[in-house]
Amino acid sequence: MSTAPNDFAAKQVSPLTSLEEWEDDVLKRYPDPDSIALAKKTDEYRNYDEHTKDHVREFYRLNHTFQTYEFVLEKRKEYLKFDKKEMPVWDAFEFLNQLVDDSDPDTDLDQFQHLLQTSEAIRRDGHPDWMVLVGLMHDMGKVLCLFGEPQWAVVGDTFPVGCAYSDKIVYPEFFQYNPDFSDTRYNTRLGIYSEGCGLRNVMMSWGHDEYVYHMLKDHIPESGLYMLRYHSFYSWHREGEYDYLLDDHDRQMLKWVELFNPYDLYSKNPEPPDWNKLKAYYQDLVAKYLPKTLKF
Ligand SMILES: [Fe+2]
Ligand SMILES: [Fe+2]
Repeated sequence: MSTAPNDFAAKQVSPLTSLEEWEDDVLKRYPDPDSIALAKKTDEYRNYDEHTKDHVREFYRLNHTFQTYEFVLEKRKEYLKFDKKEMPVWDAFEFLNQLVDDSDPDTDLDQFQHLLQTSEAIRRDGHPDWMVLVGLMHDMGKVLCLFGEPQWAVVGDTFPVGCAYSDKIVYPEFFQYNPDFSDTRYNTRLGIYSEGCGLRNVMMSWGHDEYVYHMLKDHIPESGLYMLRYHSFYSWHREGEYDYLLDDHDRQMLKWVELFNPYDLYSKNPEPPDWNKLKAYYQDLVAKYLPKTLKF
C-alpha cells in the first residue's frame, strides 16, 4: 500500500480514537426523530462521553485550521488522478475494511456493515436501485485514511473553502486559526465565487465525499451524485446555509441529499445484515452500474 507522506505529527493525524467518534457526534447533533419519540436516546449515545467530546473538539480544531483553499487544491491534484490503486469492486470493500476501529470492538460494526445497513434501509423503503447503490458506496472514500491522510482530511462536516465560513458549521470558533480566515481573497461572503454560481463551481473542504463523487461520477444518476458529494455538507442540507452560492439545479437536488441523509445517520443497528442472503442481489446491482474495477 502506498502511503502518502504528510507533514503532520501523529497526534494531528488521528485525534479521534476511531472515525465512529465523528459519526456519533453528528448523531448527537441531529438525533433520530423516531428514537426521540420512543425515548431511546440513552443507548443511542452509548459511546458519547466526555472523552469523546474532547477528541471531537480537537478533531474539528485541526479540520478547521488546516482545510485551507490551498490545501484542497493540493489534495485534489494528488487524488483526482486516481493513479494510486486499481481493484475489483468487491476487493475494494475488503480494502476499506482494513480501517478498523480500536475504540469499541464489540459494539462497532466494520465499514462494510454500515454501508450495507444504509443500502438495505434504502432498499426496504422501495427507492430506485441506483439509490441503493449510493447507500452501498457512499463511504468508500474513507480509504483516504489508508493512503495516510489525516482523519480531518477524510471525515467531518464539509464546507465551502475560498469564501467566508458559515457560523452554523460545527465549532465555528476554530476557523479563526485557518489562514484563509484573515486572507482578503477568501474571507468575504462570496470570496472567489460569484452570486448563485452553483455548487459545482465551489471547492469543498477535502474529504471522502468529494473523492467518492469523482470516483463514481460516470456511473450513477445525477441525484445520486449529489448524495455522494454533499452528504457531509450539514451546514447546507441541515442548516440551510450558503443559499447565495446555489443555482436552481442545486435547489432541486437538495431534496435528494435530504432524502439520503437519514439512511446514513439512522440505519445503524448492532445486528449485522445476513450477507449470504444479500450477496446475489448486490452482485447484480454492482455489475449493473459499476465497471469491473475501481480506480483509487
Ligand atoms: Fe460519509
Ligand atoms: Fe456513512
